[in-house]
Amino acid sequence: MSRVFINYRRQDSEGYVGRLYDHLVQHFERDDVFMDVDNIAPGADFIATLENAVAGCDVLIAVIGPHWLTITGDDGSRRLDQWNDFVRVEIASALKHGKLVIPVLVGQARMPAPGALPDDIAALARRNAVEISHNRFSYDAGRLVDAIKNALRGGNTLKPPADPHTLARKEAAINALRAELVNATDSPLYSFRVQNRALPVLGQGSPDASMLFVGESPGKYEAERGVPFCGPSGDVFDELLESITLRREDVFLTNIVLDRPPEKRDPTPQEIAFYGPYTDRLIAIIEPRVIVPLGRFAMEYILKKFDLPGKRGRISQLHGKLLEARMAYGPIHVIPMYHPAVVLYSASKRDTLLEDFTKLRPFV
Ligand code: URA
Repeated sequence: MSRVFINYRRQDSEGYVGRLYDHLVQHFERDDVFMDVDNIAPGADFIATLENAVAGCDVLIAVIGPHWLTITGDDGSRRLDQWNDFVRVEIASALKHGKLVIPVLVGQARMPAPGALPDDIAALARRNAVEISHNRFSYDAGRLVDAIKNALRGGNTLKPPADPHTLARKEAAINALRAELVNATDSPLYSFRVQNRALPVLGQGSPDASMLFVGESPGKYEAERGVPFCGPSGDVFDELLESITLRREDVFLTNIVLDRPPEKRDPTPQEIAFYGPYTDRLIAIIEPRVIVPLGRFAMEYILKKFDLPGKRGRISQLHGKLLEARMAYGPIHVIPMYHPAVVLYSASKRDTLLEDFTKLRPFV
């Protein structure tokens, strides 16, 4: 997991830093985001302690407010020129150790010129900055998170947004697949669908989503509306998504069986064999970077499809595990999870699911 160090001057940027911290801990583990080096033991080398703290991080965010460059200490001299200024020590250390250093401009601050900086941090001026304003906070902070993740993971897990042409092509392909499903008279559940005036449920979400969730099968509510997860387990699913700041339109949600089976029963092997190829085709169209099977049936199908080593493992062993697989379009991850409905009869599983969902943050 990447460790992020926030370097800032309290007098200059405090209003922003707290907000930024709260935003970052939604995308990285709380223990991996550092704001203040505290507990410097009496007698400890202050400079060495700061340097070690920075050396243990992957990225340093240098928050630069409007007075960052000019703030003076009690003796009237510029803080940045003092040898023991912690802002300078931390940035110099990050630059020296080749860490990713991202200047973040707040309060309409401008990037300082190299000549205005002490030599050991002059290279900061060449770093491309991200601007953050209170008015557009979520958007700006989101860009910062993307920049950190992209830089740290070489762009592997994050998907660049599709151009309008690609998006339209994918949308058309999904609509064609939906039409095929509607007309799938050979489906083992077709007559049950027709008798009940129910709808098939192909899925919902972004045609270019980076994350694909695969549930089990539509229930009564879903078959009435043709929308996946819109009953009680959908409420749980929405809560889980929200815990990692995602909305349905950011992901794609489907099921391993696309018509409602009678009497809330488990899907049969024959039904999974019929509908599974729809999931395969959705994967080929959407090209997700991560696939999240929800529950045993979807997990077994996906693990078998990718011939993943633990394919005979139980969901109690494999939930929350990051498994690597390969598609023609590139490497992907599979992270099995319990089905959200489990929370409806075993409340303690909510925490397990929330914890497992945090594994998705690097892909958000
Ligand atoms: N359970 C599922 O697996 N899928 C749905 O769409 C609804 C409930």
